Amino acid sequence: MPKLDKRLKTVARLIRSQTHADIGSDHGHLLAALLAAGRVERGIAIENKRQPFLNSTATLAGKNAEVRFGDGLAALSKGEVQSLSICGMGGESIVRILNENPDRVPSSLVLQPNHKADQVRRWAWQSGYHLRDEQFAPGHWQYVVLAYSKATPPESEAPDPAYVNLDLEAAFLFGPTAIRNPSKSFLERLQEEREYLTQMKCHTPVTDQRLRAIDRLMVHSTV
Ligand SMILES: C[S@@+](CC[C@H](N)C(=O)[O-])C[C@H]1O[C@@H](n2cnc3c(N)ncnc32)[C@H](O)[C@@H]1O
Repeated sequence: MPKLDKRLKTVARLIRSQTHADIGSDHGHLLAALLAAGRVERGIAIENKRQPFLNSTATLAGKNAEVRFGDGLAALSKGEVQSLSICGMGGESIVRILNENPDRVPSSLVLQPNHKADQVRRWAWQSGYHLRDEQFAPGHWQYVVLAYSKATPPESEAPDPAYVNLDLEAAFLFGPTAIRNPSKSFLERLQEEREYLTQMKCHTPVTDQRLRAIDRLMVHSTV
């Protein structure tokens, strides 16, 4: 039974489903752990590269899982799964995979962008998915893990409540739960980033946007 690192353990704790698809399964460890723990009844691993496809096939052999060679959600049919995960990719890749087959995106999602998490949060905001949980996991760097549910009436008539009364732009960049109840370590990380960005000689629209958002968030902070 493969042991999950803290990042994938955090992902696994947010999944409970009948049939779950893991897009970009690579080693296949997440689905193997979910099946072993009884958190999912059946798994579908999807890979678009040969060696990761073979790795997933080996890990999931003999389990209630199928491994498919294909590109993102194109390898799924509509309504086939109740939930999916996409982990360990950049936010832009995650959003591209979701946008390429919008009719196959299930109602429950766990997304773990390695960077550009704001793109995933903006996609969810625009697509009617409400944040169910936001966790941070230690590892190579601080990973964010985002769990979403598709909002249904009457919730879908209002914007995601996770963002109510927050600076929307800052919440997209740094996470609505992190900025609503900022921990000391979160504020220290913001302060570190602020110092780093302030010293940069060349700024881009992205670094400017982050610096402005940090300044707004730190106005009342004593860190
Ligand atoms: C960095 S690995 C992450 C593996 C695993 N999800 C994890 O978090 O540990 C990304 C994996 O996604 C696969 N991948 C990237 N784009 C994909 C796509 N459009 N469809 C299926 N697999 C994809 C890659 O081949 C690679 O194995």
